[in-house]
Amino acid sequence: MDDSDFDTKSRIIELLDVRGKIAFDYAKKVIYHQMSDHTERTATSIACANIAFIKYWGNRDSALRLPVNGSLSMNLDGLFTRTTVSFQNSLGFDELIINGHEVMGKGLERVSAILDIVRQNAGLDIKAQVVSENNFPTGAGIASSAAAFSALALASTKAAGLDWPEFAVSRLARLGSGSASRSIPAGFVEWKMGSGDEDSYAVSIAPPEHWDLVDCVAIVSAGHKETGSTEGHALAPTSPLQAARVVDGPRRLEICRRAILERDFDSLASIIEHDSDMMHAVMMTSQPALFYWKPATLAVMGSVREWRYSGLPVAYTIDAGPNVHVICLSESASTIVELLKALPGVENVLIAKVGPAARLEP
Ligand code: PMV
Repeated sequence: MDDSDFDTKSRIIELLDVRGKIAFDYAKKVIYHQMSDHTERTATSIACANIAFIKYWGNRDSALRLPVNGSLSMNLDGLFTRTTVSFQNSLGFDELIINGHEVMGKGLERVSAILDIVRQNAGLDIKAQVVSENNFPTGAGIASSAAAFSALALASTKAAGLDWPEFAVSRLARLGSGSASRSIPAGFVEWKMGSGDEDSYAVSIAPPEHWDLVDCVAIVSAGHKETGSTEGHALAPTSPLQAARVVDGPRRLEICRRAILERDFDSLASIIEHDSDMMHAVMMTSQPALFYWKPATLAVMGSVREWRYSGLPVAYTIDAGPNVHVICLSESASTIVELLKALPGVENVLIAKVGPAARLEP
């Protein structure tokens, strides 16, 4: 081998190196792009369920979920949904996985409708995978749809790169499930009925630390409820009692708001039981009638009233299911839990303090 051979060889090696470097740089770029693409388009959020003290029942516009009355609730700390949304170029359609099971049909359509709004606002044209886990029984009077749609609204906007203020995320959550608007802000939350889509969202009226209330949820049945709230809202106007309930709504709301702000348990107890009984009276007198209570539900309601009359600060409220939310002060929570567990028909008791706002996981 002479000198010129050596030159040619080292030139070839050099060239290969350059090509290798170009290829390496290109690969690095692709991987980096994919990684940044992935990080930017994925977000995980956690949102609590909430229990309504003044109930939302009936819509004036069911497509936009604009309620016939304002409502007020407490977030339930520790009873939550964790949701990850990732927009992925490779997906041909939206995917929904709840508690490890793929969901299709109406459930998926409802989620896709929210994702469509997000895509439209973010100028995105790609499908998303939504993976969601609840840590409490779904569909049994604990507002699982509230936690689910508030977590979806927060994670999907963030994943799509939208940095929306709280009220806008609450409004979006409302379109998935009305009560979900109330799981976005912290603590004690009021959803203003508003004059239309623009101003119908929820705001916090007091932070979680404002008042040490506890919700002891007496589970009398963890099964799925028979009639979901979306169908239930549509039946509300068929009850002749609904008009009276709605007209009286602002009065109950004001009493409840004041009871919370002044930490007046007696006022809170009487107004939340009254409001819950009124909603169930509407449900029971709708056509067709909706009966959510089971014998054990009534037994718990009776006991709670007796305990209160004998001096314990305690009150009940019930959503669209058979389980009884027993509200008390934290100092008497352990006594109430023991009392509830001793009642026939009570399968389990879940305990929740006042919960925080929906949040993103880092
Ligand atoms: O948000 P929806 O459509 O699941 O309706 C909730 C209805 C009640 O839970 C019965 C009352 C309420 O205000 O949460």
